[in-house]
Amino acid sequence: MTKNTALDAIFQRSLERVKNLGEVFTPPSSVEDMLRLLSQGRKGFWGDENHVFFEPNCGHGNIVIGIYRKRLQALYKKAPPHSENAALYAVANAINTLWAIDIDAKNVHQCRSRVFLETLVFLQQKTGIATQHGLIKQHKNFIAHLLCAINWHIHENETLSCLSDKKTAKANAKKTRSGAKWFAEHGHRPMTFDLSWTEYYQQCEQDNLADIAYQRALRFLDQYLAGKFRKSREFQFADCLAGQSSDKTKPATNVKAKAGG
Ligand SMILES: C[S@@+](CC[C@H](N)C(=O)[O-])C[C@H]1O[C@@H](n2cnc3c(N)ncnc32)[C@H](O)[C@@H]1O
Repeated sequence: MTKNTALDAIFQRSLERVKNLGEVFTPPSSVEDMLRLLSQGRKGFWGDENHVFFEPNCGHGNIVIGIYRKRLQALYKKAPPHSENAALYAVANAINTLWAIDIDAKNVHQCRSRVFLETLVFLQQKTGIATQHGLIKQHKNFIAHLLCAINWHIHENETLSCLSDKKTAKANAKKTRSGAKWFAEHGHRPMTFDLSWTEYYQQCEQDNLADIAYQRALRFLDQYLAGKFRKSREFQFADCLAGQSSDKTKPATNVKAKAGG
């Protein structure tokens, strides 16, 4: 039987991964200390929509989750009180100003899953909607955007090359053995921090183009709402919805994401 384990309590997976990827995760208490230092003396720091955060080696997401939680709470406080829209406003702004990458697909998957689950829990708490099914039924379009935004903002990439221009990307990726290997397989994926999911989607609308990922997210949620949840490779990080495909399910709790090894 697979045990559900709290990911934030896993600091190393194997010596091989430490050697190949430098994979040692930051404990949540240290994340808290770092974020306290970051915001020290900067009033309104976490609630400022103009701040954009980038986690260049996100791992399974300890720092991402630390930032995301602070952003959600601070942005929610800033929005008009007692409205459902306040929670949606907080989520939309928090995800559209947070970027995270990692060279390792498993880490990206786990980081996305945690952000998705964190969002469902936050939305249920703030809107008072009792079930995940109810939440998705009432805010299907928003959750479809959330699914796309998570894929867009948290993705597999190589830090040194993605921050470089076309000419120097390969040479920079080669500075580490794992970077060179990744670059040979995936090539150059430059980051464009100005192009958030929302910006991108609005550009599609202006050009009268239907975004395919968004259409697929809607279909994924329709199947879920119809009680026919089907796993999707694209939205695999939302597999926590499996078994929750009924409006009688209990409120989301911060279920521990499954640790894969
Ligand atoms: C020391 S861990 C830190 C994880 C996370 N930031 C934390 O503090 O919990 C380093 C992470 O960087 C990733 N990584 C290693 N080389 C990388 C590269 N060239 N580009 C992007 N990510 C890389 C590894 O997969 C690993 O998850």
